[in-house]
Amino acid sequence: MIKKHYLLLFVSLLLVSCHTQKIGIDEMDLSSMEIGRGAIQVGKSTSGNPLTVGGKVFQKGIGTRAISKYLIRLDGKAVNFSAKVGIDDSSRGRGGAKFYILGDKKILWESMVMHKGDTAVDINVPIKKIMKLAMYVAEDGGTPYADWIEPSITYHGDVPVPLAFKIDSSYILTPPVANAPRINGPRVTGATPGRPFLFRVPVTGKPPIDVSLTNLPAGLNWDPESKVISGTAPAKGEYVVKITAKNEVGSAEKDLKIITGKGLALTPPLGWNSWNCWGLSVDQEKVKASADAMVSSGLADHGWTNINIDDGWEAPERKPDGELLANNKFPDMKALGDYIHNYGLKLGIYSSPGPKTCGGFLASYQHELQDVKTWEKWGVDYLKYDWCSYRTIEPKPDLNARKKPYILMRKMLDKSKRDVVYSLCQYGAGDVWRWGADIGGNLWRTTGDITDTWRSLSTIGFAQDTISPFAGPGHWNDPDMLIVGKVGWGPQLHASRLTPDEQFTHISLWSLLAAPMLIGCDMSQMDAFTLSLLTNDEVLEVNQDPLGKQAVPVKKDTGFQIWSRPLEDGSLAVGIFSTASASTVEAINWGEKSTTNKIRVDWSLLGISGTHKVRDLWRQKDLGDLADGFEAEVPYHGVVLIKIFK
Ligand code: GAL
Repeated sequence: MIKKHYLLLFVSLLLVSCHTQKIGIDEMDLSSMEIGRGAIQVGKSTSGNPLTVGGKVFQKGIGTRAISKYLIRLDGKAVNFSAKVGIDDSSRGRGGAKFYILGDKKILWESMVMHKGDTAVDINVPIKKIMKLAMYVAEDGGTPYADWIEPSITYHGDVPVPLAFKIDSSYILTPPVANAPRINGPRVTGATPGRPFLFRVPVTGKPPIDVSLTNLPAGLNWDPESKVISGTAPAKGEYVVKITAKNEVGSAEKDLKIITGKGLALTPPLGWNSWNCWGLSVDQEKVKASADAMVSSGLADHGWTNINIDDGWEAPERKPDGELLANNKFPDMKALGDYIHNYGLKLGIYSSPGPKTCGGFLASYQHELQDVKTWEKWGVDYLKYDWCSYRTIEPKPDLNARKKPYILMRKMLDKSKRDVVYSLCQYGAGDVWRWGADIGGNLWRTTGDITDTWRSLSTIGFAQDTISPFAGPGHWNDPDMLIVGKVGWGPQLHASRLTPDEQFTHISLWSLLAAPMLIGCDMSQMDAFTLSLLTNDEVLEVNQDPLGKQAVPVKKDTGFQIWSRPLEDGSLAVGIFSTASASTVEAINWGEKSTTNKIRVDWSLLGISGTHKVRDLWRQKDLGDLADGFEAEVPYHGVVLIKIFK
């Protein structure tokens, strides 16, 4: 009897272990799937149309766009991967793409270069013993819509799961905040005489910290509790305010120069914008939560200041008298402005010069002054002015027509009783860097929209070199907002698809470029790594250097680039970047720490000689007095950021 039981048990165990199961990849959590642009779609092409390849419509599958990657964890007991692949018929352009299946750093299967119109190709790949499986669509002359039709895995053991890159604290380089007081933020700030002034003094250290000011010009008040200077900006001039911060551990001093009558944004704006996380789903609560998080996370104590609402706040119709209202997601803009200002932070808003914004909301065409006056009531300190739908007014704009709406809005902003930082967002058209400052812009986008891929980051960031001379205090090149942390451009967020090293490259490069930095993630969900990227005071000091000189590359070579920027104190900030173009296998982030390359910087490249003190800015560590040059160990797609003293 007992024997019979054992036999039954044995047979059923055998059956279970041999029982082959099948999972559709489209049933898995796809939030870690990388897509070149746009959003992954299940059961549809990324264009939103039915999955259609070579004229044939398919019900099941995943619509993505090159470059796309997805990594799956297996247990060595999976059997087979199968799918059909092809370029979706709704894809625009003629560009091709190649599909790959990789397993444990080997190519298991690859397609020919596929184009729109090609018949879907069958994949059937044995994946026995594989632990990490990657689905990869590489571009080949384009970034077409790429479809995985009925992709599935058959397996015996554990259910396949997405393998998302886990960034733990071992990647953090920024040292913990010291107990001794440190006064952070810009060393210079601009304002217009007679207009409201607001400046939060960013200080870190062990609380309680006693912060006091001397030489504060008349008209300004200091609140040591909130650490906010407010009041009315004094007459045209330069005022040097001495800030002292003391706690039980020590004390720190710093001069803050308030310059009135010489424009705004004398250092690049540092803040947050709603677009890269919330897209059009932004609402009042999310904005309030962002202001709360900027303060509670400590970001505000490192100099982050702006809370900017992007597209999606506007009501569907103006009032009969033409006044623009906020929609019902923003019940009280004035109260929201007050809420943000109470922290000593600043409020930003978004509009476009055409009748509609890029998101299809109401924009400022023919209501420019009225809108400026509305924003004045709400307490707006910053305007991002897009280009969208202006083409309906000027279908073929020449240079003057391109400038016209921005000049008009500048005139209207000058009629505001508030200081408003003016951000032009027309993607670099008409070489905006050549005229953006002349027409009174404080910053101007230099490219199309960024997204959280290495390709987007590196093509935008490393292409900013020729326009470097056009940046300076009060007028900055803007290579778009940050893509670290949880982003998503809509209600669903995902962790940035950049590797930790790519994220170091991002923040280092934007600091060297003197680029405006607007955090694009949900600040209430930041992990320790993201926070460490945004709170390294020595890196932020490079970004905020009052000289305002944008870095230039001193060497661009295959696989690496060296960029250098002079700082006000006569030192140089230098970024040594590994930009190696990836082999197919290396293009996949296998979830392991990157290998490093040795890259040497000879002082002669930087126009200096002799022995210089060198400091690693991310680690905030002196590397010694080095003669002739420095050899850095640079991780793949990563950076070593140094300061070379005079
Ligand atoms: C785009 C702009 C984005 C965002 C979006 C809003 O044109 O580049 O940054 O503002 O419009 O619809």
